[in-house]
Amino acid sequence: MPDSRVPRPRRFLLCEPRHFAVSYSINPWMRTDRPVDPVRALDQWQALVDAYRAHGHTVDTVPPVAGLPDMVFAANAAVTVAGRALGSLFKAPERRPESLPYEAWLKAEGFEVHRPEAVCEGEGDLVPAGRWILAGTGFRTVPAAHREAQEFFGVPVISLTLVDPYLYHLDTALFVLDDADGGNVAYCPDAFSPGSREVLARLYPDAVLATREEALAFGLNAVSDGRHVFLPPEARALAARLAERGYVPVPVDLSEFHKAGGSIKCCTQEIRS
Ligand code: ARG
Repeated sequence: MPDSRVPRPRRFLLCEPRHFAVSYSINPWMRTDRPVDPVRALDQWQALVDAYRAHGHTVDTVPPVAGLPDMVFAANAAVTVAGRALGSLFKAPERRPESLPYEAWLKAEGFEVHRPEAVCEGEGDLVPAGRWILAGTGFRTVPAAHREAQEFFGVPVISLTLVDPYLYHLDTALFVLDDADGGNVAYCPDAFSPGSREVLARLYPDAVLATREEALAFGLNAVSDGRHVFLPPEARALAARLAERGYVPVPVDLSEFHKAGGSIKCCTQEIRS
């Protein structure tokens, strides 16, 4: 089986960390007394862009806006499925203004953007997984937004409840390895309520499971193209288990972004036309 995994080229939207900082705290990772190194953050981000391009993916960027330090976390601004875009409504008032510049970018690209009525943090919590969308709730995105997403996309939305405040977005606790029908995911069971754990076990009996420690190293805040898995270098054991399954780990260090509670996937929105 190793070497049989076929990558699918993706289109990613990112936002340069020109104004990235930890200037408020809206998750347990964020400490305003632990400053971000702006030069290092920029270098790390550029290395992620380079890694995507080196593996055949298209990277677009949305211009960063001063005063919006979390705008680098592009995943949260929207979710696109088959040419349709659902925008965002952030829980934290500090992040609410981020929705508009992303909406403008999507509109300029020809997407009609539906604005959610309930708190909805884009691909951070709404994770397209082939035949359905996996949706997290508990800390940010609310169940009403899961229903809005299902109605808007016409795709079944599977609600999952997150229980660990350090793993507050679905994309910190789970990622899609392969989004073909009957695809596969990697996830950390500890991050979910007992019922949601059972749902995941039913849907994905062959999932790659991660420990809480691996999830806290942002090992699950990863991006897979079906073959290459871009993930933090700290998640070494997880990378080895992925390699056993025929995936090719591509370590990318985004440690400056961990200070704000995000990593590779948080910085990446997939554009699905
Ligand atoms: N500081 C940001 C927040 O708390 C980090 C967002 C991380 N994004 C993600 N997709 N998990 O909202």
